Amino acid sequence: MESAMASPVTKEKVLEENRRVHALENWQYLSRHPEQTNFFQSAILENTLDAVCSSLKQSSRILDLGCGTGYLSLGFLSRGYRLLGLDLSQEMIQAFEDSLTEKLQSQAQFVVGDVEEFLLQNKDEFDVIALSAILHHLFDYESVLRKICARLSAGNQLVIFFEPLKQEVQSPLRFVLHRVLSWLDEKLYRSEMRMRNISVLDEEYHHSDYQRQFGGIGPNRVQKILQDEGLEVLKIEKYCARRYGINAWLANRILKTQNTFNLLATRI
Ligand SMILES: C[S@@+](CC[C@H](N)C(=O)[O-])C[C@H]1O[C@@H](n2cnc3c(N)ncnc32)[C@H](O)[C@@H]1O
Repeated sequence: MESAMASPVTKEKVLEENRRVHALENWQYLSRHPEQTNFFQSAILENTLDAVCSSLKQSSRILDLGCGTGYLSLGFLSRGYRLLGLDLSQEMIQAFEDSLTEKLQSQAQFVVGDVEEFLLQNKDEFDVIALSAILHHLFDYESVLRKICARLSAGNQLVIFFEPLKQEVQSPLRFVLHRVLSWLDEKLYRSEMRMRNISVLDEEYHHSDYQRQFGGIGPNRVQKILQDEGLEVLKIEKYCARRYGINAWLANRILKTQNTFNLLATRI
């Protein structure tokens, strides 16, 4: 157990932990995270990609910050767009690159590095800047968001996807049912991972999920930052992600609980 006198967590420590955890995740990342690929979440992903792409030209260029093994990026590549995928983890990027056909590889470029450093050094223009499940891994997500806004010109889009939100308890009964469903979902997940011989890494995520200790990311706070920086927020979608599609369906259709959000914004 860490002592109360443990040194404060620094940005370097958060980066180091993210490198370590995502090297372990590697090519099994999406197998280990069925909450990103079940039927309920896949429908949300497709709708979001369609909404973002509806106003793009075929020559548009996408920047995916924290692209990982390509969850969001693959949707842009398969729709024919050019992509630059940036990630801190060499292993995640390698797994993504290895999974691509030659045709999709020809549309993609990859950079290994820290998002904040990248935004300071790279001056390319992108039609869309996309982030999926990265903000909660960052030491100072507000500063990164402001740097991203500064890179968006008129008509360019920002998509923030699959980010864990700060939960508001709507009613004690609903919260208890939410916890029960979450428990069941996790039990099933752990048995499936055991059967498939895939290690569960939850215990490894302590400092790498840095923003979770503050309850996740507040969509209202994100909206305020984007508006301060001159962006128009077009849509905020809050919902409940679960490991299994059926549990996500129950959580959203019956309990109407929320633990995740997506946001679309543009500069006008
Ligand atoms: C939860 S994973 C999400 C991956 C992918 N976007 C997805 O939705 O499947 C978070 C990703 O952010 C990357 N990451 C964490 N901190 C980062 C940083 N400071 N700069 C760049 N990437 C970072 C991790 O290496 C990891 O691939």
